Amino acid sequence: MFLPNLCSFHHILMLSVFTGAANGYYNSHWSQCIYSSSDFSDMVYLIDYYFNKYVYVQYNSTVGKFVGFSEFGVKTAEYWNKNPEFLQQLKADVDRVCRHNAELYKTAIHDKAVAPVVKLSLVKRGDSRHPSLLMCSAYDFYPEKIKVSWLRDGVVVTSDVTSTEKMPNGDWYYQIHTELEYIPKAGEKISCMVEHAGFEKPMIYDWNPPLPEFEWNTPLLFTAGVAALMLGIIIAAAGFIYYKSK
Ligand SMILES: *[C@@H]1O[C@H](CO)[C@@H](O)[C@H](O)[C@H]1NC(C)=O
Repeated sequence: MFLPNLCSFHHILMLSVFTGAANGYYNSHWSQCIYSSSDFSDMVYLIDYYFNKYVYVQYNSTVGKFVGFSEFGVKTAEYWNKNPEFLQQLKADVDRVCRHNAELYKTAIHDKAVAPVVKLSLVKRGDSRHPSLLMCSAYDFYPEKIKVSWLRDGVVVTSDVTSTEKMPNGDWYYQIHTELEYIPKAGEKISCMVEHAGFEKPMIYDWNPPLPEFEWNTPLLFTAGVAALMLGIIIAAAGFIYYKSK
C-alpha cells in the first residue's frame, strides 16, 4: 500500500555526482523542486550538497541562502552567500527551473484523465429470503477522484453498500470495489453508476442476472416419476390393444 500523503507531494529531481574513483569518495548534489499546491505557490527549490552520505551544505529557496552543517560546509556557505549574483540566480531558478518544469509535468500528466474499465460481478447468489451480494469494480482510472453508486430501478441505494478505499496500482492508475447486498425482487433493475473525469457523463452499467440454477427437488422428481409411469402404462396398453386386434 502507498502512503497517500506521499503521493500528493511532488518532486523534480536533478542529480549530479562527482566521484573520486581511486579512493572511493563521493561528492554529489541533489536539486529538488518540492510542491503540493496546483498553482505552485508553495514551491521550494532545495539543493543538498553531500560528501559521501552527509549533507554538508544546503540551499533552501525559502531561506534564500546557504546553510552549512560541517566546518567545511559552514565555510562553503559563507563563501557562496557573499556572492549576491549566485543567490539571485538561484532565487530566479524557482521560476525558471521549478515552476517551468512543474507546468510541463502538469499538462503532460496531472491534467490527463483516463476513464475506468467497469465490471459487475456476482459475489453471492441470493433468493427471496437470502441477500445477494453484487460487486462493481472500476479498474485503471486516473486521477484518483471517482464516485461509484448503486441504483435500484433508477433510484440511488444508500444502505447496505460497502466500498474499498481507492487503491493505487503503483502505476499511476487506481482501482475501487463497491459491494451491494440486497434481496432480489423479480423484474427489478440493478445498476452501477460511475462518475469520473474520464467520462463526459455519469455512466450506468446494468446488472444482467445469470439464469437461476436448475435444481431437482422432491415435488419435481415426484411429478417426473408419475409422468414416466403414465407414459409406460399408455405404451403398455397400446401394445396390448395392438396385440389383441391382430
Ligand atoms: C525550507 O525552509 C523553510 C523555512 O525555514 C522550511 O519551513 C522548510 O521546511 C524548508 N524545506 C526543506 C525541504 O527543508
